[in-house]
Amino acid sequence: MNKTVLISGGGQGIGRATALKFAQEGYAVSICDTSKEAGLEVIRHIRDVGGDGMFMCVDIADEEAVKRWLRLTVQDLGRVDVLVNNAGISKNGSMLDLSIEDFDRVIAVNLRGTYLCSREAARIMKSIGGGSIINIASTRALMSEADTEAYSASKGGILALTHAMAVSLGSSGIRVNAISPGWIETADWQFSARATVPKHSEEDRLQHPAGRVGIPYDIADMCVYLASEQAGFITGQNFVIDGGMTKKMIYV
Ligand SMILES: NC(=O)c1ccc[n+]([C@@H]2O[C@H](COP(=O)([O-])OP(=O)(O)OC[C@H]3O[C@@H](n4cnc5c(N)ncnc54)[C@H](O)[C@@H]3O)[C@@H](O)[C@H]2O)c1
Repeated sequence: MNKTVLISGGGQGIGRATALKFAQEGYAVSICDTSKEAGLEVIRHIRDVGGDGMFMCVDIADEEAVKRWLRLTVQDLGRVDVLVNNAGISKNGSMLDLSIEDFDRVIAVNLRGTYLCSREAARIMKSIGGGSIINIASTRALMSEADTEAYSASKGGILALTHAMAVSLGSSGIRVNAISPGWIETADWQFSARATVPKHSEEDRLQHPAGRVGIPYDIADMCVYLASEQAGFITGQNFVIDGGMTKKMIYV
């Protein structure tokens, strides 16, 4: 039986590339997303190249919906080996004006959603002897622009959740790691009706020591590695993938 990966927010952006990458590696892929069109399109791509996959329309902040996603994945694909907690939203704005409802929604999707999916996946992984959970955080967990309190707090929470879960779940054979992406261009990885061709200036490229803006496969490749047996001694860690952007000093 193929190994199975679950990817939240797998319909577009980094999640879409991650779904396609795992499918290329021979995994059966279960994705959830709030966008039905995007999710179904990804599953069509996977099936067109001979892969196995399923999609469910799920808001990861909704406990019952998450439980249903996990239950139906086991029913359809047989097991849960890897979970990529990728779905995320931001609502930026001055903290003097941002509504508390907007703040709560960002925390509910990004942090509570990551916890809910991890809890439900861990219950199944424990019963089959282990697994790998990969949380998509952000370099904004570590540094900030102005007016990003809700998003930054949610991503900082994900880093803390990562080491806490790694310690709690280690004895069940479950490894938990985080990836903190920097600037990853996803304009061309949206649902086909919404996708656009990205344009970057020379300045955009030069602020990255690697000489370019990131692409979704930069993150997807790391997810596949962290899920693999080669990463068996890695847990509780955060991997910054940002082309070196956060290591570059800026004098203004
Ligand atoms: N792109 C970047 O530069 C960047 C940088 C750092 C971190 N990240 C993180 O990477 C992850 C993916 O980002 P992206 O840029 O690919 O985003 P994206 O907006 O392109 O894709 C996110 C997907 O998640 C889905 N989604 C949103 N809310 C959801 C919910 N409540 N339940 C289920 N699905 C939901 C969306 O419909 C969408 O398909 C996010 O967690 C984001 O915070 C992205």
